[in-house]
Amino acid sequence: MRILLTGASGHIGSVLTARLHDEHSIRGVDLRPPEGSVREAIGSDFIVGDCADPALAARAVEGVEAVVHLAGIATETDLPAILNTHVETTAALLDAMVNHRVNRMVYASSNHAVGMTPRCELLGIGVPPRPDTFYGVGKVAAEGLLSLYADRHGISSVAMRIGSFLEQPQTRRGLSTWLSYDDCTRMVRASLTADIEGVATIYGISNNTDAWWDLMPGRALGYHPQDDAATFASEIPPRPEDDIEGARVGGPLATSAFRLPPFGEAR
Ligand SMILES: NC(=O)c1ccc[n+]([C@@H]2O[C@H](COP(=O)([O-])OP(=O)(O)OC[C@H]3O[C@@H](n4cnc5c(N)ncnc54)[C@H](O)[C@@H]3O)[C@@H](O)[C@H]2O)c1
Repeated sequence: MRILLTGASGHIGSVLTARLHDEHSIRGVDLRPPEGSVREAIGSDFIVGDCADPALAARAVEGVEAVVHLAGIATETDLPAILNTHVETTAALLDAMVNHRVNRMVYASSNHAVGMTPRCELLGIGVPPRPDTFYGVGKVAAEGLLSLYADRHGISSVAMRIGSFLEQPQTRRGLSTWLSYDDCTRMVRASLTADIEGVATIYGISNNTDAWWDLMPGRALGYHPQDDAATFASEIPPRPEDDIEGARVGGPLATSAFRLPPFGEAR
């Protein structure tokens, strides 16, 4: 399949390009030029620029069969920047997809879309949006766009609410929220080809023994994670902040100690 990978120079993007380029033909787009393994995997089919720019989005989407949208500031920042980086990029790409008849978006959403939800035994995907930050608000709004473009234009999407994408888990919370490199690749691979109508929302975590979030929606799409954060449990010493970080889905970003940037900071 010919795919567009936005945010290809980033952490997740570089892992995915290295692992998917043998089976898919990948075009990359990013604000930053590709380096090392990404440049080797993608070659010259790379566009440096802002995918919130409709003209760039149109050029990037032309000729592909699916879009894996990872581009965006992967942490909290001021609201105007969040709206640009998560909402405007998603809208520009979806619009370009309508014009070029591209029917599948695989979107890197986040657990922070529901981050203020109190932790429970096993969180399903039916809980209402409950963002913990402006970052989470951006992900909720981007998920809303997926729904709008599914209903208006028939674009099917997977909203992957990713937990903690790391080489290995680093905190006690990570024992529940970890997503390994290989499982992320499995999830995107399944999401590209799954039979979906509308928007499928899934939690992007590995097959963790201590998982807080339900993997069934992902399994229904053919995502069968193989790794388990419990393998690393003995290497992760307890910390005083573990309890408070484990109280809500969003962990440290959902605590009262985490301060939002003032709304007007960037103006
Ligand atoms: N890493 C995680 O654990 C995690 C968890 C949940 C969700 N996510 C989401 O996954 C996506 C990728 O995360 P990551 O960890 O690889 O982040 P990253 O910061 O390593 O990579 C993001 C890339 O997007 C690019 N980018 C940002 N805005 C852009 C724009 N307007 N146009 C083009 N390129 C742009 C950046 O230059 C960067 O290379 C993000 O949307 C993030 O919110 C990540």
